[in-house]
Amino acid sequence: MSVFPPGVALQVLAPDPSERPPPRFAAAPITAQYRIAAEHYLLRLRDPQIARGAPGQFVMIKPTRALEVHPQLPRPMAVYRYLPASEEFEIVYRVVGTGTRVLSERAAGEVAEVMGPVGQPFRLRPGLAGLLVIGRGIGTCSLTAAAERAAAQGARVYAVVSARRREFLVGLDLFARLEAEVLAVNDADGTSAPARVGAFVAPLVEAGRVQQILVCGSHRLIALAVRLAAPYGVEVQVSLEAHMACGIGYCHGCSHGAVGESEEAPLVCRDGPVFRCLQVEAA
Ligand SMILES: Cc1cc2nc3c(=O)[nH]c(=O)nc-3n(C[C@H](O)[C@H](O)[C@H](O)COP(=O)(O)OP(=O)(O)OC[C@H]3O[C@@H](n4cnc5c(N)ncnc54)[C@H](O)[C@@H]3O)c2cc1C
Ligand code: FES
Repeated sequence: MSVFPPGVALQVLAPDPSERPPPRFAAAPITAQYRIAAEHYLLRLRDPQIARGAPGQFVMIKPTRALEVHPQLPRPMAVYRYLPASEEFEIVYRVVGTGTRVLSERAAGEVAEVMGPVGQPFRLRPGLAGLLVIGRGIGTCSLTAAAERAAAQGARVYAVVSARRREFLVGLDLFARLEAEVLAVNDADGTSAPARVGAFVAPLVEAGRVQQILVCGSHRLIALAVRLAAPYGVEVQVSLEAHMACGIGYCHGCSHGAVGESEEAPLVCRDGPVFRCLQVEAA
């Protein structure tokens, strides 16, 4: 267990081999790629095994075409939606550097080298009646597949979608299709203060309308969720980000901080990216 942010401890979820078949290395046809906002793209790919992955898992995708060498390393991307009926899956990403810029120049009809699905998925409770997802920025992409799965299983979905600016809000169309109750906030409008988010979240946990909360993209929102959920026994799971070279536990480059001199902290790619959060006394 490692402590992060102050007041929150991360617990590695018990591995469930049935949920994590060995990742597949695939040459996946790109079936669609289009811009959905100024800096955001939706990429749809076809692969029968990856299309049957679990919510919260991700893929490692090589941004370049087969014979191009720069950038060399694949990039981790959450699966935004699984479309098993057509053996497709979708990624939504923001262009932030060379890899994502090169990826945005790929087109339908090309093939992308992908490995996945990898990582610990979110664990949705059987019989879940209400799920709250809290996403900040592009981090919301790690939560959408879980929200879809929960809704398909009959749960009511609530969502907090937060970003720096209104145009960076992700997933609003998807949450609308799920008939989710949504609080959309952004920094530019001055609507994203923790107090406002807390005023949306607190009544949901106090009235028992949600039994699980999933968070991605903000340590501040993780801490808020854990603080509000703990007194009511509502479970909080979080998806973390880290720089990743391999995505499958070889390079140890994604270790989540140091636990001690002789103990390595969890690897975000192998032990996460999904962890359970527990409230602890802040140091
Ligand atoms: C499990 C997981 C799932 C992810 N899912 C998505 C997703 O669905 N959509 C999406 O847009 N992005 C996602 N990311 C982040 C994505 O992998 C990075 O934005 C991408 O690798 C950047 O590549 P680049 O070559 O464009 O940028 P780089 O040139 O590598 O970096 C550009 C800037 O982004 C920062 N950066 C790069 N990688 C990360 C990271 N992992 N976390 C925080 N900052 C980073 C760098 O420090 C630098 O400031 C995910 C990351 C992880 C670990
Ligand atoms: S990215 Fe290589 S061990 Fe996690």
